[in-house]
Amino acid sequence: MTIQNRIDSIFPTWDEIPAQHRIPATVELREYLIDGELRRLDGASQEVFSPVCVKTARGLERHRIGSFPLMTETEALAVLDAAVAAYDNGRGAWPTMAVSERIRHVQLFAARMKERRLDVVRLLMWEIGKALKDAEKEFDRTVAYINDTVDALKDLDRTSSRFIIAEGIIGQIRRAPLGVTLCMGPYNYPLNETLTTLIPALIMGNTTVLKPPRHGVLLFSPLLEAFRDAFPPGVVNTLFGMGRTVVPPLMRSGKVDVLAFIGSSKAANALQKEHPKPHRLRLVLGLEAKNPAIVLPDADLDLAVAECLAGSLSFNGQRCTALKILFVHASIATDFIARFSAALTRLGTGMPWEPGITITPLPDEEKPGYLTGLIDDARQFGAEVGNEAGGAINGSFFHPALLFPVNERMRLWREEQFGPVVPVVPFTDIETPIRYIEESNYGQQVSIFGRDAQQLARLIDPLVNQVSRVNLNSQCQRGPDVFPFTGRKDSAVGTLSVSDALRAFSIRAIVAAKELDLNRQIIGDITREHRSNFLSTDFIL
Ligand code: G3H
Repeated sequence: MTIQNRIDSIFPTWDEIPAQHRIPATVELREYLIDGELRRLDGASQEVFSPVCVKTARGLERHRIGSFPLMTETEALAVLDAAVAAYDNGRGAWPTMAVSERIRHVQLFAARMKERRLDVVRLLMWEIGKALKDAEKEFDRTVAYINDTVDALKDLDRTSSRFIIAEGIIGQIRRAPLGVTLCMGPYNYPLNETLTTLIPALIMGNTTVLKPPRHGVLLFSPLLEAFRDAFPPGVVNTLFGMGRTVVPPLMRSGKVDVLAFIGSSKAANALQKEHPKPHRLRLVLGLEAKNPAIVLPDADLDLAVAECLAGSLSFNGQRCTALKILFVHASIATDFIARFSAALTRLGTGMPWEPGITITPLPDEEKPGYLTGLIDDARQFGAEVGNEAGGAINGSFFHPALLFPVNERMRLWREEQFGPVVPVVPFTDIETPIRYIEESNYGQQVSIFGRDAQQLARLIDPLVNQVSRVNLNSQCQRGPDVFPFTGRKDSAVGTLSVSDALRAFSIRAIVAAKELDLNRQIIGDITREHRSNFLSTDFIL
């Protein structure tokens, strides 16, 4: 079968879909979580169509998988008010609760979440087109993240369970919550990148509003009861609807204390500007990136091709950490292109449940047209598609395209394609990729491929001052989750890792007292009698 034939017949009929991978019934989500209650909304709703098309008598159709409610501004503000009331200016049960108790609630949620693995994984496949193995990985990685967060908080709490005496002052320093947190994840990791802000925010004592991404709403429906049952009323609330309708009013109200947002810097800027007291707003942002690879003349080409292929095309290139432009030394560029194109031909393309699949249909309906525009633009300035059927489209399926040679006149030079298009720039002077990185609006990561330790070291030292992670002979990635995940310039605000996230969603607070007998007695009494959750020497075992 030619690649074009494969693309033309990539979508199945309903009967051809293995029974265990079908959506058993559409998910008509009508409830949202507010103040510990699953409240029904019977107003307008948004239908959800899968990126997976199905062959029908009427032709190819995006399969309808369900719908979710479109909240109004008033309903959105009521959701926020539930979180505000639960926080109660820091007097609420949740922000004043003992850390060990909050941990218990989070653990209960993790246990309940695990029971819904199958449903969530299936919805990840159908709602955003994520390959089964990657969907399972996203789920399991998120559960592991929650468990690791609990361990990290225990550690943090243990080191805070003591007094420090300096200059005649006794102090106990702990981390305290910030307030009401709005958590918004992206559509490429709708579960993981929403919960990796939501869980640290919660466990530190903040109350939350969870707004799922545009694509990736239904997969939260199996978790709503777990959220309701695991947390006290108002601690987790959900917001469903069009972002532009429901989010700006929340920001304008001035009642959001922390915005945890993974998405575009344009959207983040707009939201930040809505807040009436910007300096009171803590931002935790994961934004776009245009991570380059630099392939040096002495690179191990097999390794470089394998890493660049995975780096640029895992989940169709829809990762903020994806390699989005490859600088390849001109002396090896022809060889690199030939090997990359051959490897691309072998890449699994198909439906999310098929084994060994990397390239799947795209959830964003506009994306195939946008990517075609990028290719046309690059062609106009001298690039060619270097692989068979590169850029071919069938409905929501876009076959990956390798573009070479790419130069600074092309949109692909600066725009974050966030899709399966791989631009390759040949270079002779190492200044070319270095200047590219310096002049870029983004500063997340870089991958360097080469063998000469001396040359690599010369690149590492300046590049760590431009980006936040330099990967040697390895693709760019967020994990392992204990590593700090951040970026410079327009790529991020704040740092996320299991332990950094606990800091991002909290602030240090101190109880201090002059070393007087009176104060010694008071502190002794409070700690001995366990009268305070903050001023306490209790040690979590
Ligand atoms: O979309 C950005 C994600 O944080 C990337 O995570 O590198 O583990 O795929 P990953």
